[in-house]
Amino acid sequence: LKIDINLNKTVDNSYPVIIGDLPQLVFNKKVAIVTNPTVAGLHLGTLLGKLTATEIYPIIIPDGEEHKHLGTIEYILDRLFEHRFDRSSLLIAFGGGVVGDMTGFTAALYERGIDFIQIPTTLLSAVDASVGGKTGINNRFGKNLIGSFNQPKAVYIDPSFLATLKSRELSAGIAEALKMGVMFDREYFEFLQNADISDTQELLKLISRSVSLKAEVVALDEKEHGVRAVLNYGHTFAHVIENETNYKKYLHGEAVAMGMVMANALAVNLGNMSADEAALVERVLAKFGLPTRYVVKDVDAFYDKFFLDKKTEGAKIKFIVPDGIGGHEIVSGIDENIVKAALAEFATK
Ligand SMILES: NC(=O)c1ccc[n+]([C@@H]2O[C@H](COP(=O)([O-])OP(=O)(O)OC[C@H]3O[C@@H](n4cnc5c(N)ncnc54)[C@H](O)[C@@H]3O)[C@@H](O)[C@H]2O)c1
Ligand SMILES: [Zn+2]
Repeated sequence: LKIDINLNKTVDNSYPVIIGDLPQLVFNKKVAIVTNPTVAGLHLGTLLGKLTATEIYPIIIPDGEEHKHLGTIEYILDRLFEHRFDRSSLLIAFGGGVVGDMTGFTAALYERGIDFIQIPTTLLSAVDASVGGKTGINNRFGKNLIGSFNQPKAVYIDPSFLATLKSRELSAGIAEALKMGVMFDREYFEFLQNADISDTQELLKLISRSVSLKAEVVALDEKEHGVRAVLNYGHTFAHVIENETNYKKYLHGEAVAMGMVMANALAVNLGNMSADEAALVERVLAKFGLPTRYVVKDVDAFYDKFFLDKKTEGAKIKFIVPDGIGGHEIVSGIDENIVKAALAEFATK
């Protein structure tokens, strides 16, 4: 006996990203604002002033990547049960990528799924993490290994929240924006090269171009079967750097900057970009105060850690490399010696 479960319906989970002053938000339902003490201290009052809902509950979770784990998810879920949230309630992620990833994942889990919206307050989250519906948490086996694809109902990016970021945090966001430029859009890279992010108009352009590029990629490949993997440029290396430095020494965007420089070294050796182009990308990263040179202490150990990455399929490591500035190529199965030769360029002599 065979019974078919026919699920090949298409679900439209499209949503808007609104960039500019946060509008008045009115919800005829219970709303929880998930945030941390840092963001709450600086901006919760502003958000509450713009929000109307049946009931509003701030849920404050501890600040930091080291809290992006199941224990914190359970804490948020417990608060939702205590406040008797139901399937029609709404979560608002109000913070950086850490808050966004955890809120989105909690929304996927609570009573099998409730709606959430993203209000990013870091540049990294505005240009990258808040858009695209990847949600997840870390465990002792690695970063973002537990999670789901869960798209928000809307994303509101109000650059005025970014005014309180430290310059290091701003730069970390620029690394992800440069990633988009190098992979997809030479003109955008050239704009970023000279961008003055203290100028509101330029900051708006930086955010909106990055979000539109990401939107195009996610529309083509929501669940990362193909081109979405290009957004991992620099990340294969960055994840090893973050792991080797215990997720403490570098911000994610800083590790991505150094990872991009490593991916470029590989690209130069593969004939995918010129040494001049690689040097230009490195100069622009450095101009924004990003670290560009990670010292590889042990090439073999660094290489072995690629296999911890969930993007490693079987024995093959997928590398994302530029095809000139503004182009990309996904290459898998590169000879181990070629990869190690590129890593050796970063090793202590
Ligand atoms: N889902 C995705 O597609 C995606 C993409 C990229 C990164 N990420 C994830 O995002 C996380 C990194 O995000 P992040 O860089 O935003 O880090 P974060 O969320 O830890 O924020 C960085 C720091 O800035 C503080 N902060 C936030 N807003 C502030 C403000 N307006 N003023 C002052 N301080 C503020 C935070 O409290 C925190 O201490 C990582 O966990 C990464 O895995 C997810
Ligand atoms: Zn990233």
